[in-house]
Amino acid sequence: MRKKIAAANWKMNLTLEQGEKLIQGILDADVKLEDDREVVVCTPFPYLMAAKEMLKDHAHFFTGAQNCASEKSGAYTGEVSAEMLQSVQTDFVIIGHSERRQYFNETNELLLKKTLLAMEYGLKVIFCCGEPLEIRKENKHEEYVQKQLVETVATLSADQIENIVIAYEPIWAIGTGHTATPQQAQEVHAFIRSHIAKRFGNDVASQMTILYGGSCKPDNAAELFACEDVDGALVGGASLKVNDFTAIIRELVNSKS
Ligand code: PGA
Repeated sequence: MRKKIAAANWKMNLTLEQGEKLIQGILDADVKLEDDREVVVCTPFPYLMAAKEMLKDHAHFFTGAQNCASEKSGAYTGEVSAEMLQSVQTDFVIIGHSERRQYFNETNELLLKKTLLAMEYGLKVIFCCGEPLEIRKENKHEEYVQKQLVETVATLSADQIENIVIAYEPIWAIGTGHTATPQQAQEVHAFIRSHIAKRFGNDVASQMTILYGGSCKPDNAAELFACEDVDGALVGGASLKVNDFTAIIRELVNSKS
């Protein structure tokens, strides 16, 4: 069964109190999620335990971190390992977000190391890819995304790839209000799925959850989720407001399987 996911990426926003209020608001909305729909809340590290405590009795609700270390353990001041995330029952981790690639110089090689460690410790990975504006203008976005995948998740084994959710996030759409059109999203999502099919076969590809990210909001979620290969969204700005994120979850619930 291909899962549909609404994932919140809080980035470096909210205090613990604000975050708890937000989660409580989402839970209070009491949206009914069927078996193939999930909500993942990716909080800053210090809030993961509190978020888990609030979500643990709610089926279909999961926690996620926004990053993890590329080394197992040891003298890496300031880092948080995959094992630590596992020890506080974190379910998912975002790896390869464009902000990490851009501001923290994370390369495909490093992201693969993080991905392998995350899976070793039982975490599911939301692996991000997506092109900058210049590449889109040159119409080389598919090539660009393909390289990001070939050097990372496409090197995994068939068993490992089942733990991966891919998020296509065109950089020009992140935090800019310029959402990709449903056609633009669908085109790249179909391309990603066909790439996965070539590498891992049709069964794996048809099961793979591929999220869209980049200015997803209540008023464009329905048309994005209606696209055949768009299986939900990784949501930044709109995930910080109870009403907006709840509306997006509702659109996910209403979207066809
Ligand atoms: P945005 O962020 O929804 O604010 O564009 C998405 C993301 O960066 O994951």
